[in-house]
Amino acid sequence: MVTIAVLGYGTVGSGVVEVLEKNKDSINKKAGKQIRLKYVLDRKEFKDNPINARLTHDIEDILNDDEVQVIAEVMGGVEPAYTFVKKALLKGKSVVTSNKELVAKHGAELLKIAKEENINFLFEASVGGGIPIIRPLNQSLTADEIYQITGILNGTTNYILTKMSEEGLDFDSVLKEAQDLGYAERNPEADVEGHDACRKIAILSSLAFGMHVDYKDIYTEGITKISDRDMVYAKQIGCDIKLLATSKKIDDKVYAVVAPIMIGNDHPLSNVNGVFNAIFVKGNVIGDVMFYGKGAGKLPTASAVVADIVDAVKHLGTNIISFWSKKKMKMMSIDEVPAKYFIRVKRDEESKAIINKIFGFVHVVYSGYEDEIAFITEEEKEGELQEKVKALQEDTEVLNVIRVEK
Ligand code: NDP
Ligand code: HSE
Repeated sequence: MVTIAVLGYGTVGSGVVEVLEKNKDSINKKAGKQIRLKYVLDRKEFKDNPINARLTHDIEDILNDDEVQVIAEVMGGVEPAYTFVKKALLKGKSVVTSNKELVAKHGAELLKIAKEENINFLFEASVGGGIPIIRPLNQSLTADEIYQITGILNGTTNYILTKMSEEGLDFDSVLKEAQDLGYAERNPEADVEGHDACRKIAILSSLAFGMHVDYKDIYTEGITKISDRDMVYAKQIGCDIKLLATSKKIDDKVYAVVAPIMIGNDHPLSNVNGVFNAIFVKGNVIGDVMFYGKGAGKLPTASAVVADIVDAVKHLGTNIISFWSKKKMKMMSIDEVPAKYFIRVKRDEESKAIINKIFGFVHVVYSGYEDEIAFITEEEKEGELQEKVKALQEDTEVLNVIRVEK
């Protein structure tokens, strides 16, 4: 028998407890041992809930109990999660987590401690919810040099963009729906401003390239400026708007970007809708591989957390090696990266002449809106395009700028 504890009884934590109970027999068989949930840590009381029999408000009950060998941290946030997880690992307890903030910031250090202690620090649920992607990167794609990862890594924003595009719903009401469904972060700014996707691409890049990709070095834009008009234009040119997170290795440097992109309807990620996420990985031997599934929500995420618990139980006393050194990866500025922009400006007598003067030839996109002009630039380096947008802003009102990959 292996004794475990769960830290946090919110959306994911209650899902973990539910999955452990629902699939108890098959989980125990696959783990090769009976799994016993002894503690659940949370701040709150849960009225008329059988969880109360296992509830504690004091982490020390868990850390000081030698019976506990595996802990699932599903509280979220960096502190006190980091302190609790580090203490647990140093006491020889394996930890699994869904907490991407924690993993993006301290993953390399926590993996190192787990290796030294001959235990495990696993975080499958931290990226892509229920999609297996961490384990494939660590174990299945090891023959390859991975050189690019592009993904839809945030369920909340994909849900919002899909509902805006397909049902014409407004941003705020769909965000509220995503919160009610348990997809959004406690502070949904992390979702809609792209920070959550940024942390996830930092985690994937660090594992794929073996060095620490600092999320603070990643250019990040969210979806808050995307309007219903942008959706109309996107359809007009055969595109969907998706929040994409990309990282690419060129020689010994990496560039990484999180931003809303207009992608062609034939792009492999364009049909990934709602809360679904997908991750497209390019390796120098395997070619292209894509992973797809529910990227957020109680049970899909709990599925990944429980799979990590099973793995931790199967590997008691053996460290599963991950390649993520603390050494910082050299990052390339996105100024050097080629891009094409879709730009909308307010229409007046001079706007056409101003656009032509700054950008030369552009592809005008017709929409029927009389009060604005929209166009797509030729491909140029980001840095040069940014300079031109600045010049445009001096002479006219720029309504929105979105990258285009088509
Ligand atoms: P919730 O806010 O629903 O649950 C967290 C729970 O932990 C709450 O009950 C909270 O209590 C409790 N908690 C937080 N801090 C402490 C503390 N210091 N001591 C005791 N209890 C504490 O979050 P989620 O379940 O949605 O998410 C958990 C983690 O999983 C986050 O890192 C999130 O990013 C990640 N994740 C979430 C997914 C999802 O779909 N929801 C998917 C993938 C990952 P209180 O409410 O009182 O603060
Ligand atoms: N808030 C996150 C999302 C949860 O919407 O993708 C899953 O990590």
